[in-house]
Amino acid sequence: MKIDEDILNSIIEYGVKAPSGDNCQPWRFRFDKDRLLIINDEARDTSLYNVRNIASFVAHGALLENMQIAAVSFGYDMAAVLFPKGEKNSVIAAVEFKRSQAKADELFPYIRKRCTNRWPYLRVELEENITRALREEAMSFPGGEVFLAGGEREKKIIAGAASLNDRLLFENRRLHDFLFDHIRWTEKEAKETRDGLDIMTLGLNPVQRRLFKALKSWEFVKTLNRVGLSRLVPMQTYKLIKGSSAVGLVAMKGTSPESFVAGGRLLERVWLRATSLGLSFQPITGSTFLIQRLYLTDGEGLDNAHKDLLLGAEKELKRVFPIEKDNAIIMLFRVGYASTPVLSLRLPAKIEKG
Ligand SMILES: Cc1cc2nc3c(=O)[nH]c(=O)nc-3n(C[C@H](O)[C@H](O)[C@H](O)COP(=O)(O)O)c2cc1C
Repeated sequence: MKIDEDILNSIIEYGVKAPSGDNCQPWRFRFDKDRLLIINDEARDTSLYNVRNIASFVAHGALLENMQIAAVSFGYDMAAVLFPKGEKNSVIAAVEFKRSQAKADELFPYIRKRCTNRWPYLRVELEENITRALREEAMSFPGGEVFLAGGEREKKIIAGAASLNDRLLFENRRLHDFLFDHIRWTEKEAKETRDGLDIMTLGLNPVQRRLFKALKSWEFVKTLNRVGLSRLVPMQTYKLIKGSSAVGLVAMKGTSPESFVAGGRLLERVWLRATSLGLSFQPITGSTFLIQRLYLTDGEGLDNAHKDLLLGAEKELKRVFPIEKDNAIIMLFRVGYASTPVLSLRLPAKIEKG
């Protein structure tokens, strides 16, 4: 590979700043002849959301976009062949670098600043130039679209459909256990593992944090559900979403693995653009991945009552956003203004020699 090893390591370091479901960081890197292979480590995200690896494909798209932006800024052009022929399905991309004179990408400085902000946002409307800038990011991606809605009615509908996820988290044991296995309860644990969700990034006050820790026990959750816990939890998320400036959806034409990777690239650009505009951003997308699970696996792992609730949520989402079966739903999100939260950590990226 005609690229200095230190520069390559820096490009990868920027790459892994990408978002991933529950901060699973489902990637590995391997040198193979002149190419860098980017591999999906399926064992890292076994959640019900990650149906047929689509959540991981989105994360890999974001990783590739960060790497591309960083490469150009270091004076290299990056060519990525997705799912290269002759390789295992887990190889997401074969990447090569060439010296280039291309102009640095203006989003580069925001890779280190981009983060998920789960705190309440200020109730201010987005200005027209802000919504335009976010929508325009989709223009460089054939088949990609970014929809935004800031009306009270739309925000309420999305808040209802998205907060259903929080109910399911406390009624479905697999969803519950996966989430709680990924919470890092202390600063020490967060620093040692450098993955998962640091409790301090969850937007909880000290009382809520203590309560949340008790909910790690499924038996306790089951008992509290008898007095309505799982119906109560979504109310907090509902309020957060309703109180944001706007809700949005990133969608991509097609439903192939390539569509989800391309959608992840677009998502990262939208998120970086939002960061550059001083906006806070939070995915609120558990329900949309579970809806896709209904179609891709007949809802394996979900009971019939929950399948019906998800079909109802899908109908509601369609009242606000044009969701179509032959499009990949990449992410539902909320945006608004808030102060910078605690940033989450990353594992050091190692390149395996081929
Ligand atoms: C496909 C995907 C789905 C996600 N879904 C949610 C979600 O529903 N709620 C949420 O708060 N964060 C969600 N996230 C954000 C991740 O938890 C977050 O990116 C990760 O913890 C790393 O933190 P950072 O974004 O602050 O770097 C999602 C991220 C990805 C890539």
